[in-house]
Amino acid sequence: MQRSSSVRAITPSMTIGMDDRARRLRREGVDVISFAAGEPDFDTPEIIKRAAIKAIQEGFTKYTSPAGIIELRQAVAKHLRDTYGAAYAPEEIVITAGGKPALYFTLRALCEPGDEVLVPVPAWVSYVEQVKLAGARPVLVPTGAEEDFQPRVDRVASLVTPRTRAMLICSPHNPTGVVYTRETLAGLIELSRRREFTLLSDEIYESMVYDGARHHCLPGAWPDARDRIVLLNSMSKTYAMTGWRIGYAAAPRPMAEALTDVQGHLAGNPNSIAQRAALAALQEGVDPSEMVAEYDQRRRTIVARLNALPGVRCATPRGAFYAFPDVRGLLGRPGGPATSVALCEVLLEKAHVAVVPGEAFEGPGFLRFSYATSLARIEEGIDRIARALAALS
Ligand SMILES: Cc1ncc(COP(=O)(O)O)c(C=O)c1O
Repeated sequence: MQRSSSVRAITPSMTIGMDDRARRLRREGVDVISFAAGEPDFDTPEIIKRAAIKAIQEGFTKYTSPAGIIELRQAVAKHLRDTYGAAYAPEEIVITAGGKPALYFTLRALCEPGDEVLVPVPAWVSYVEQVKLAGARPVLVPTGAEEDFQPRVDRVASLVTPRTRAMLICSPHNPTGVVYTRETLAGLIELSRRREFTLLSDEIYESMVYDGARHHCLPGAWPDARDRIVLLNSMSKTYAMTGWRIGYAAAPRPMAEALTDVQGHLAGNPNSIAQRAALAALQEGVDPSEMVAEYDQRRRTIVARLNALPGVRCATPRGAFYAFPDVRGLLGRPGGPATSVALCEVLLEKAHVAVVPGEAFEGPGFLRFSYATSLARIEEGIDRIARALAALS
């Protein structure tokens, strides 16, 4: 059976692939330590679970409006207003089955075939693939460790063409853990105004910032630019709700309506029960700060331990729950791994530690460690890596 060219052009997610391999080895009885999964290891808070059970018991199990239940749209609008001063009417909020469809439906609603979407790299695995699936062309904007992975406005400007439709922004950033500065964001806002493109602002790690770093919600900090911004977010990370599949987009009304139409035909509506659960998270004011404090402690530990490994250099991330060490010092030695993909193979085979290679994010020479795992597992995982690396040299 012939598969379509757009499907043939996509690459399977290496992060999911790595985590699947770790799971398979575990099923075979191997004690694998996985730093691969980008999901909180915490359980979903009790209050959220109870709201879902209540929804089932009350028979709240039917189709909802394709844009999501009005109470949840109101609660999201209130959250954005109270937390960041971002003014959205409930009609400008569209609830989706996680952050992924929020982005895909936006790209479908925004792009003509062949339109260009700027993607700073390294980048989260699905950006490039979703842009391709939507029939648009990803234009990669290189960013470097020496610039703290902040996109340079002059470099972005040099890649803008008459076909540029949008730019993806992710801060706090997956995979680097970098938080974009106000200056970086202000420069991008100004460029989007001058060159007339839309900013797709993925703020899924909004609650996870450390060392006094500040998350700038784009439409909150730059209300004048609101009509050129689609804000993308999700309950997955902040409320440890990855499996529940609830996310949202906030956009000017015509775009919100277009997104709703796309969702109406492609997904119908997000899960009714999970919407009630998400509503409880927002209405009951579930506070993620305890989880964030725990991530912070793990962050300090993993960065210190990684920097103590010969040949590894790890900048201190100030957001999300990822460390993104530079491992170029370990590559290309006689008999050793030549690439970070090969290094990940060695770590999985010899140390039973799963890590995602930078290649997955267009960032070769680096590895991504998710530190959403316990301190004890972090210590044990890095001990194992240290032993495997010592055996290599
Ligand atoms: C940057 C970024 N955006 C979006 C998502 C999608 O999250 P969801 O599980 O809500 O679809 C992820 C998940 O890993 C992510 O890291």
